[in-house]
This record gives sequence, structure tokens and C-alpha cells, in this order.
Amino acid sequence: MGPEARIGAASEVFNDFMRPSRYKALYGGRGSAKSHFFAEAMIGNAVNNKGFRAVCIREVQRSLKESSKRLLEDKITALGFSKMFTVLNDRIDTPGGGTIIFQGMQDHTSESVKSLENFTVSWCEEAQTLSPKSLEMLRPTIRAPGSELWFNWNPRNASDPVDVFFRGMTPPDDAIISRINYDQNKYFPDELEAERLHDYHNNPARYAHIWLGEYEPSVVGAIWDRQTLHENRRSEAPELRRIVVAVDPAVTTAETGKDPNETGIIVAGVGEDRRGYVLEDFSGHGTPHQWASKAIAAYDKHEADSVVIEVNQGGDMVRHTLQSIRPGLPITEVRATRGKHVRAEPISALYSLGRISHVGTFPELENQQCQMTAAGFEGDGSPDRVDALVWAFTELFSIMTRPNKRKPPRDMPQVSWMG
Ligand SMILES: Nc1ncnc2c1ncn2[C@@H]1O[C@H](COP(=O)(O)OP(=O)(O)OP(=O)(O)O)[C@@H](O)[C@H]1O
Ligand SMILES: [Mg+2]
Repeated sequence: MGPEARIGAASEVFNDFMRPSRYKALYGGRGSAKSHFFAEAMIGNAVNNKGFRAVCIREVQRSLKESSKRLLEDKITALGFSKMFTVLNDRIDTPGGGTIIFQGMQDHTSESVKSLENFTVSWCEEAQTLSPKSLEMLRPTIRAPGSELWFNWNPRNASDPVDVFFRGMTPPDDAIISRINYDQNKYFPDELEAERLHDYHNNPARYAHIWLGEYEPSVVGAIWDRQTLHENRRSEAPELRRIVVAVDPAVTTAETGKDPNETGIIVAGVGEDRRGYVLEDFSGHGTPHQWASKAIAAYDKHEADSVVIEVNQGGDMVRHTLQSIRPGLPITEVRATRGKHVRAEPISALYSLGRISHVGTFPELENQQCQMTAAGFEGDGSPDRVDALVWAFTELFSIMTRPNKRKPPRDMPQVSWMG
């Protein structure tokens, strides 16, 4: 089967996308064949246009594993073109001396982005995370004759730059913009159908966002917002002076017969620049032995200074579980004397001041953050990831503000960190 025959095979929606257009924008819910479509189109183009040069873009790409490279390799094989392409470590060489490369926009400056000027296609996956600066830099960079900019995304907020650009008051002229959902994907797999049905019955508040491409249900009065998380995002952390792993253990026990909550495990640090950095989110379900092992693995991986635990709720048990696996593990205890959202507020204030960056994206954590309000958590279940995050930064920043040890830096917000 030739590439033309396969391209667009998953949905009628794609027929429209076959003609040349400066912009091609596809948005919708999970599993609607957006990534597969653009991957096939990419390979089809490379086969038909000798010397084809394309760049696959994400806002943050910490490694090639986070890129579309693997999907493109699979498409090359599936379409029977293996002999025409050379798959290298960091790029795929295309017929006639062209190439496909993979980059994170966060790694670019207005100078470095010029290296992309002679690329014919840019394909931006998960474009809902594109920052305003990235979109602004990218558009005038892609300028080869007949060049195209492709975007696909799962909408989150109407204020996200890609939504404002394509779905705002004045979308660009030369653009094909379509919405697509799972029910238009002929190849929608059974595994995803089962996931969809589960959400349909159990997660009605979020179903339309996940599967129908609607915006996130918005939470009025949330103390974090996506824009701020976005603007402060980094692809790398600088030199860090202190790193901790904070653990907020699941409290529901198996005895209640209910699904236990997740255990929040967040790795965070504070830099020489006195800014905070979220490095990794290891949260998940599991037995005490499992989460304790995970926390210790995180501690080792990041060469952390200590594991931070909260001691009100079964602190002894938590300490014991951790130290039975790793005797002598340095543990820092923090004590909750106020409600969840009250202790979260000083940390969200630091975000608002631009003092905390996420190194990469942490969708589950960020969703929880954006559902924390001054009156409590508006999401489902318990905000375990946020709790762990709050413990981590309470500890990291309280060291900097702790009386008698060190004077608080003058520009620190004067808030009390503990109750
Ligand atoms: N052209 C195709 N050939 C074979 N399978 C396909 C094709 N298009 C889609 N599929 C199937 O549909 C699934 C969903 O497609 P894809 O991953 O492209 O969706 P998506 O819209 O990018 O979803 P997400 O938002 O989850 O990233 C794939 O995992 C694959 O099983
Ligand atoms: Mg996809």
C-alpha cells in the first residue's frame, strides 16, 4: 500500500488536510488519531519530496523518548519504507538528503531558533503546552517557500496560546482547523474504548475534557493557574543547593474496601538562585512497601538531602516503613497545624512571584494544583500530589527563612511557613 492510500485512512476528517496550507491544526480528545495522522503525513511527504526537512517540536523535550521519533519509526516500518530512511540516534534522514529532527522549544532562544529557518514543515505535538513565547518565535521562523506549520493538541484552556491563535477571534487566514474525537477514528482500539467507558461512568466531571476535546472544567478561585505554571516552566534545573523527596502517604487503608488514595511523592529542590524547582513526580498507588521503595529510589536518583514526611498522620509508621528499607535514611519531619489549602497558599504565592519552576510537565500534579481553591480541593479524591509538593517547598523555603539560622533574604515573601 502506498503512502497516499494510507494517509487519512483513519478518518474522513483528514481528507481536508491533504491540500497545502500554511497552518494545519487538529485538536480534540484522546485517541482520535491526531498523532498517527500527522506521523503518516510526515512520512508521506518525505517519500514524495526529495530532500524534505522537518522539525518535530514539543514545548519541553527532555529526551528523545518524549518526542514523536518512535512513532515515526513505526510508521516507516508499517508503510514499508524502511529502505528509504536512515534512523539515527537523534534524527531520521529522509530520501534525497533531507532530515527530520526533534526539538524542545524551551531549549531555544530567539537566536538559536534561526537554525530552523530552512525547514519545510514544523510539527508541534501536544501543542496545548506551547508557551506564548514559543509560538511567537516559531511562526516567523518557518519561512521556506511553501512551508507548513502543523499543530495537534488536546485543549485545556481557552487562554492557552494555541487555542487563542487558532480558535480565538481572528484565526490565521491560510489555515485548516478541525476538531476530531475518538468516534471519528476508525482504528480506535478496544483498550481505549474500555478506558473511555470507564470514565463515562465514573468520571463524568472530566469525561468531556478527556474524550470530547472540551476545555478543562474550570475551577473558580483556584490558587494556581496554568498560565503561571507555564510561564515559569524550564527544561533544565540549574545548580541546586538542596534537594528533598516529599512523601504524602495514602491514608485510606485496604480495610475500608475503597480504592486507596495515591501516595504523593514529589522531588523538588532549591537553587543557588533561591528559586524552587519541581524535578520529578513519582506519585502513584501502591502498598507502603512499594511507595517507600519508590521514595528511596527517587532519593538515590536525585542524590537528595532528605525525605520529608508529615508527622501528624501516622508519622511513626511512615518513618518506620522508610527506615526498614533503608536504615539511617535522613528524614525531615514537618507538622501540619492548619488546613490543606491554608498551607498551600504561601507556596502558590511563591509561584505567583515567579519563584518556582516545573522542570518539564507534570499533568496530574498540575491538574490538582489548578483545582485547589482557598476553600479547599475541588477535584475528585484527595490532592496527594499537591500535599507532597507543599511539604517539599515548606521544608526547602523554611530553611531559608528559619529564624536564627540565616536572615531571610529580603525579597522573600514574609509569610509564616508553618502553623
Ligand atoms: N493510521 C493508523 N493506523 C493504525 N492505527 C491507528 C491509526 N490511527 C490511529 N490508530 C489507533 O488509534 C489510537 C489513537 O491514535 P493517536 O494516538 O494518533 O490519537 P491521538 O489523537 O494522538 O490521541 P492522544 O490525545 O491520546 O495522543 C492509536 O493508538 C492507534 O491504536
Ligand atoms: Mg497523540
